[in-house]
Amino acid sequence: MNYRNIFDSHAHYDDEQFDTDREALLSSFAEEGICGCITCATDTKNSPEAVSLAEKYPFMYAAVGLHPLNIEDEEREDYIDFFRSLASNKKVVAIGEIGLDYHYDSAPREKQIEVLEKQIILAKELDLPVIVHDRESHEDILNILKKHNPKGVVHCFSGSVEMMKEVVKLGMYIGLGGAVTFKNAKKPVEVAREVPPDRLLIETDAPYMTPVPFRGRRNDSSLIPFTAEKIAEVRNTTAQEILDLTSENAKKLFNL
Ligand code: NI
Repeated sequence: MNYRNIFDSHAHYDDEQFDTDREALLSSFAEEGICGCITCATDTKNSPEAVSLAEKYPFMYAAVGLHPLNIEDEEREDYIDFFRSLASNKKVVAIGEIGLDYHYDSAPREKQIEVLEKQIILAKELDLPVIVHDRESHEDILNILKKHNPKGVVHCFSGSVEMMKEVVKLGMYIGLGGAVTFKNAKKPVEVAREVPPDRLLIETDAPYMTPVPFRGRRNDSSLIPFTAEKIAEVRNTTAQEILDLTSENAKKLFNL
């Protein structure tokens, strides 16, 4: 595929699924037209790994944070101070992946909210955007975002068009990925059609959320054009235009 200006706003390149070929894969990305990528950590163990990947590749940037599904296994009580010190590295451009997950509910909801709010407060202190995970927790996420009003993105957006409009009104961005290509995708496609052009980000969530026609296979940033083509189709434009505008939006949000 012959595309340029691909900015993957959300991936997990520290994931063990990349252990066998990480270096070869990431080294091939420039030729695939990938100009930027945010690798998102999920706890204090993999946050330093995300930072070292970002230091190794010029196009790579890191987000550090504690994901709701990792709260129960997190060993450091001083995780906020830990993330604050990592964030002094210039390649750390966001606090994430943070949020709420009411699908798995692996930590009590009050605890998830407490951890999320602490990290949003840290992001505001550091003047960094947040990368937010929202699974079956739309109402609480919206209330928390309204309360703190951080800069950032709701990634893998799964809410309604109405919720998207509320998030956009707060000044935040909407991250869309492989889910828009899924056969049963209704809400993400409606959101893809309606989201204002200056608030759209594109992402993989690699190694997860692989777009059609590669579902079941490991995802990586070189597959973003399939997602861009679907978004372009519903917006009556070209995939390259979607890639250009999402790349511009990502650079603006992450201050690159
Ligand atoms: Ni993710």
